[in-house]
Amino acid sequence: MKTDDSREILLRGERLSKRFTDKDRQIDALSEVDVFLRRGEFLGVVGESGSGKSTLLKVISGLLPVDAGEIYCGEERMTGCGAREMGKRLQMIFQDAKSSFDPRFSMVHSILESGRGKRDLAEVRALIDLVGLDSVLLSRKPAALSGGQCQRMAIVRALYNGADILLCDEITSALDVSSQAQIVGILKKLKEQRGLAVLFVSHDIALVRMLCDRVLVMQNGRVVEGGRIANVVDDPQDPYTRQLIESARRQSL
Ligand SMILES: Nc1ncnc2c1ncn2[C@@H]1O[C@H](COP(=O)(O)OP(=O)(O)OP(=O)(O)O)[C@@H](O)[C@H]1O
Ligand SMILES: [Mg+2]
Repeated sequence: MKTDDSREILLRGERLSKRFTDKDRQIDALSEVDVFLRRGEFLGVVGESGSGKSTLLKVISGLLPVDAGEIYCGEERMTGCGAREMGKRLQMIFQDAKSSFDPRFSMVHSILESGRGKRDLAEVRALIDLVGLDSVLLSRKPAALSGGQCQRMAIVRALYNGADILLCDEITSALDVSSQAQIVGILKKLKEQRGLAVLFVSHDIALVRMLCDRVLVMQNGRVVEGGRIANVVDDPQDPYTRQLIESARRQSL
């Protein structure tokens, strides 16, 4: 997949660090992680469980404060902005999309409510169409939708909010193969049609290989290797990356 290196950088994290203190143990969940994302670019983030992938997305989205480092959206310094302020620039999508919707309300209510004063039902319907859902589902509550449908509703909500960056944390892990393929197809379409940029955390290296332009490999809160997807996955330099890719290959056999 080709990446246009001249595209504007939408998001930049510089030397991001985050330490958790759990009882008397300290965990460096992120240590000086550098990350950037261009318009229309998909960046995969892979690494074993506990390597800091979710923490990276949480500090970028403002759900957690960083201990050190800087976050920029374009030229604007966003370090210290909470989730509300960051939410105007980027949206996070979780594995369990269902629980990210208020169970008391219909989808259309939740999506319109998220628009910060905007109430444009025609736009919601157009987005529903774009992700290939039937607009009758808009009147349903989250419990009456499948996981894949909720995932697509979460994408609609993010786009309705005007986000051009999505942070996706294992969003396809709980879906069956055909729902997974649908979500991947939608993300690809949004990338091409709207220049959507995605930080895509996944255990599934084959999926990352298929979808992403570049990848970061994380271990113990550090980036051990990063670069063009073809270079990293097909010719890993770091022994940890090699091991990760080998074990992914074995699992898919
Ligand atoms: N709120 C917290 N309090 C204490 N430790 C935490 C907290 N959140 C995360 N950690 C620790 O920080 C490290 C990184 O966790 P993180 O959730 O970012 O990993 P991950 O790469 O997303 O893992 P997985 O693939 O299992 O989702 C882990 O050691 C985890 O136990
Ligand atoms: Mg995680």
